[in-house]
Amino acid sequence: MHSLLFIASEAIPFCKTGGLGDVAASLPAALAEQGYDVRVLLPGYPAALEKARSGVAFELCQLEVAGYPLKLIETVLPHSKVCHWLIDCPPLFGRPGNPYLDETGQPWSDNHRRFALLCRVGVELAMDRAGLQWRPGIVHCNDWQTGLVPALLSLENAPPASVFTLHNLAYQGIFSYQCFTDLQLPRQLFDPDGIEFHGQMSFIKGGLLLADRINTVSPSYANEIQTAEFGYGLDGLLRYRSEVLSGILNGIDTGVWDPATDPLLVKNYDRQTLPDKRVNKAALRQQYGLNASGDHPLLGFVGRLVEQKGIDLLLAAIPELVAAGAQFIILGSGEKQLEQRLSRLAQQYPGDVAVVAGYDEILSHRIEAGADIFVMPSRFEPCGLNQMYSLRYGTVPVVHRCGGLADTVVDCNPATLDDGSANGFSFDHPDVGGILYATHRAIECYRHRDTWQQLQRRGMSQDWSWQRSALAYQQLYQHALVLSERNREHP
Ligand code: ADP
Ligand code: GLC
Repeated sequence: MHSLLFIASEAIPFCKTGGLGDVAASLPAALAEQGYDVRVLLPGYPAALEKARSGVAFELCQLEVAGYPLKLIETVLPHSKVCHWLIDCPPLFGRPGNPYLDETGQPWSDNHRRFALLCRVGVELAMDRAGLQWRPGIVHCNDWQTGLVPALLSLENAPPASVFTLHNLAYQGIFSYQCFTDLQLPRQLFDPDGIEFHGQMSFIKGGLLLADRINTVSPSYANEIQTAEFGYGLDGLLRYRSEVLSGILNGIDTGVWDPATDPLLVKNYDRQTLPDKRVNKAALRQQYGLNASGDHPLLGFVGRLVEQKGIDLLLAAIPELVAAGAQFIILGSGEKQLEQRLSRLAQQYPGDVAVVAGYDEILSHRIEAGADIFVMPSRFEPCGLNQMYSLRYGTVPVVHRCGGLADTVVDCNPATLDDGSANGFSFDHPDVGGILYATHRAIECYRHRDTWQQLQRRGMSQDWSWQRSALAYQQLYQHALVLSERNREHP
């Protein structure tokens, strides 16, 4: 059996701030189903430890790593084949709130220490130095918080094969040279062929440069990041590594995201009972004070309120779209000024625009079910999960054609309607004109029930499950093993 150590900074149900949390739960689960022996290593944030202790959890071992005494807590959730290891180290992880940001929205000042510890514990486990008599064949790292793992493994004798998955190049984990010395990492790593980046230390570079195999979360994003426009200064490195770089589209957890069985919905429905979707729309309109008279298309948005998601563009487009008969329900949390601008807009258009600031799992499911149209005007989107949830819920997506959005949404036009591939609407330029162009077309189409239902049924019948993508990861692991063997023979 293949053994896999999967390392991430968040995974549901222990901790989630975005799509990484979904992926770090459902990909290991799919691999375990396919026969892998999977252990997932996570930081022991207070809520994560509480979640673990609400089930069967025990202290696996005690370690001292980089001067920090810590405990490794093991838990296997009910109905799961995945074993989770949580690092219980109160000085670094024992603080409530966001895992990355303090109460003022700034990164925790000791993030370099916090995530270096995650990486160092990962390396101890990968090298079987924690006394567990378990050694993974593959170590799979995710995003900058785990980037030092491949870097440190590259200095070990006969390490396991390493894979680094990039979920978002906009977050790189860059810290000063002082932070590098503070961590007391091996000196040779502070080098252009290591984690040095323009005089600073880059966690992500450790993963992108030194993992045996790298990938990102959609084929289109894998191409985009090799260009200066989306490469954030790392496009040269990514082109240099293009032979070991690929894109694998994320899947979604179709057990959790299924309109036929989702316990969070007001009314369940499927392709056969599609008209029942309306009950969810009516409930949303009533609960959030949207005018219930008339058949207005309801547009939904759920996401982090950050520049990436293009919410500022949507804000500027909303007045014209409301004038065209659209209603909006928006759920998000993030930058305070965006939250404020959104709530001002809701006050300006009572009955047409509802805004909920915060993180709300239940409402996110209800918006997916109750909205007619789901808007994602992201400036860039490595994969994006919400458009896949929307497609599965018969909620037609309107997206900027980039990254994973381009790989999942097929724009509705005479040709794609004819060949049956149309499932949404897209636009090429991430600006207000682009959003208006695609959304007006969607609103117009909404009024033609037959065509609309054709789009809904197409999305609902597509397979967005992890099965296929997990197989692609297995091939990636095989390739990583071959490359790591080769590196061992010809270092
Ligand atoms: P990203 O990882 O860039 O945030 P994704 O589309 O991959 O984008 O994943 C976002 C995930 O987080 C989705 O599952 C989405 O439903 C969820 N999410 C984002 N913001 C909120 C929120 N305010 N309330 C509930 N769920 C949210
Ligand atoms: C990132 C990306 C998002 C992707 C998610 C999971 O946060 O922004 O597009 O879906 O990771 O891979």
